Parts: sequence; C-alpha cells; structure tokens
Amino acid sequence: MTTKPPMRVFSGVQPTANLHLGNYLGAIKRFVELQNSGECIYCVVDLHAITVPQDPKMLAAQTREVAAAYLAAGVDPARSIMFVQSCVSAHAELAWILNCVARMGWLERMTQFKDKAGKNAERSSVGLFNYPVLMAADILAYRATHVPVGEDQKQHLELSRDIATRFNADFKVEGFFPLPEPIIGGPAARVMNLQDGSKKMSKSEPADNSRINLTDSKDDLVRKIKKAKTDTLAMPSHIDELKSRPEVDNLIGIYAALAGQTKEQVVTEFSGAGFGLFKPRLAELAVETLGPVMDKMMRYMNDPAQIDAILRDGAVRAHAIAQPILAQTKEAVGFWG
Ligand code: TRP
Repeated sequence: MTTKPPMRVFSGVQPTANLHLGNYLGAIKRFVELQNSGECIYCVVDLHAITVPQDPKMLAAQTREVAAAYLAAGVDPARSIMFVQSCVSAHAELAWILNCVARMGWLERMTQFKDKAGKNAERSSVGLFNYPVLMAADILAYRATHVPVGEDQKQHLELSRDIATRFNADFKVEGFFPLPEPIIGGPAARVMNLQDGSKKMSKSEPADNSRINLTDSKDDLVRKIKKAKTDTLAMPSHIDELKSRPEVDNLIGIYAALAGQTKEQVVTEFSGAGFGLFKPRLAELAVETLGPVMDKMMRYMNDPAQIDAILRDGAVRAHAIAQPILAQTKEAVGFWG
C-alpha cells in the first residue's frame, strides 16, 4: 500500500494598501482552514510588490498589515510558518535559475501581465513581466504540493507546473520538483466590486464604496452592504438565475462564504424575498463574522513588535526548509561548490 505524500501548502499575499474582503474570503480565510490538512507556509510577497512602484515609506507598514490580517484571521504561527519573502534569499536565487528555464513565449501568454501593463508594456518593469517566474520560485523553493489562490492566479500556477516539468526534464532529475496543485474555488473565489458586478473587488478602484476594507469600521461595513448595487427583481429562486445577475451573484457568494454554506443553500433560504430583507441579514452576518477579525487585526497592527517577532521567527524556519532545496537545485544545474 502506498501512503499519500504529506501535503505542504504555500501561498502569498502582496503587501499593497487596502486589504479587502476579496483578499480575506478568496485567500486568507482559506489559509486558516488548510492548517488542519497539512504543513502550511504563508508569505508576504514584498518582492512581488515592487514590480510596480511602491512608496518605500509605506512598504514595511503594508507588510505588517498583511501579517496582522493573517494572524487576525487565525493563521497560527506555532503551527504554520509566516514570513516576509525578501527575508529569505532562496526566493530570489531560485527565481534566477528558473528565469533560465522558463521561455519568453510562455510568459508572453500571461493575461495578468497584459492586463496590468496595458498599452504601456514597453514602460513596465522587467520584474512585472517575469513576476510569474518568481511566483514559481516561491512555491518550488519549498517543494509545496498545494497552493490556495484566487481564480485570477490559475494561469500562473499552470506556468509553475510547466517550469517544474521543464526543470525536471532538462536536468534529468525526474520528480525533483513536485507539480503544485492549485486549490481554487469556494463560493467566493472571486469577490466582485460592490457597485459593478463585472469588475473584481480591487484595492485600486477609486470608489471606496466598491469594496469592504479589512480596516473599515463596522458602520462602514453595514453602510457599504446596504448601498451595494442590486436590481429591482426579488431574490432568485434558482441558482441559474445568478448567471445574468452578477451583483446579486456576488452578494450571495459573500453570504455563503461568511456563513460556511453553498450558494444553493443561500438561494433556497432567501428564494423570492426582497433585498430589504436580505441586505440587513447579510450586514448582520458580516458584522458577526468579520467584525471580530477586523478588531483583532487592529489590535495586532497596534503591536508591531509582536508582528515583527513572529515574522523573524518565520523567516528562520522558512530558510531552514528552502536552503537545502536551493543547494540541491544548484547541484542539479552543475554550479561549482
Ligand atoms: N501572485 C499572487 C497574487 O497576486 C501572490 C503570490 C506570490 C503567490 N507568490 C505566490 C500566491 C506563491 C501563491 C503562491 O495573488
């Protein structure tokens, strides 16, 4: 009988301003759940953040903010490793080696680069172009087997698998890097803009009403839910109706994720009701479930020394895993030493 190899989970969040409900439901809340399934390593990816300009005076504070969100959501630093990417040099070193494995054509197909660079691709940083190679290095430096990510990172995960496959083949080291499995899904894999259901909830959207920030007050939280765009129909009575009603689909997804239910269950519960009933119930649920997370996040943010100690300890433990894997990688490549 063969036993399944143990699961090693890796994921990361960028330290950019305005962490929001999409980051929480689509990623951080799921990081917490996975702690019961295997060894978990969670990173604050500051090397990725500087692929677009960042204010050096803000970056460290934003890094602590992501760490505070991890802790507030329930990432347990005694069980899981949480650390800052730039503190473990194996990420950047492995990224260089993998840059020489990945092909230009593979990166040119990445839709996120095309979206982010827009018409100004010529002016974007080289780092933004090879962002997905660094992401592959993050994952492979730990031989992670599972990667919880939002829907928008699916293509990057595919690329990580391609890079791992190519490395194993080129250097004739079959199975050296395992192929990481994405963990995507749940009712809120993609949380949308509260005012426009065709756009993702985003930190860079100018209208603050469009998103729920993890640093919002409870009053803001309730107000933004009550003001969220809906339509003039009643609540759907069948899940299929959600396809043509994106704003309603989004609110039902948020409700389901917060309540730990499926969208079907929420549709059944509120079938035919008015939004005058649903929205206050959603607001109440949000205050009940998100409120404590937001409060805890504030408390952590007011104690940066505690966050820093946790991150320093995490970096030591992350380094201890990544360093031998990097050494074996260098050996496979044929480096001296
Ligand atoms: N690119 C990811 C995002 O924007 C963040 C990230 C960086 C990541 N490195 C990673 C996610 C490694 C998972 C694994 O969401």
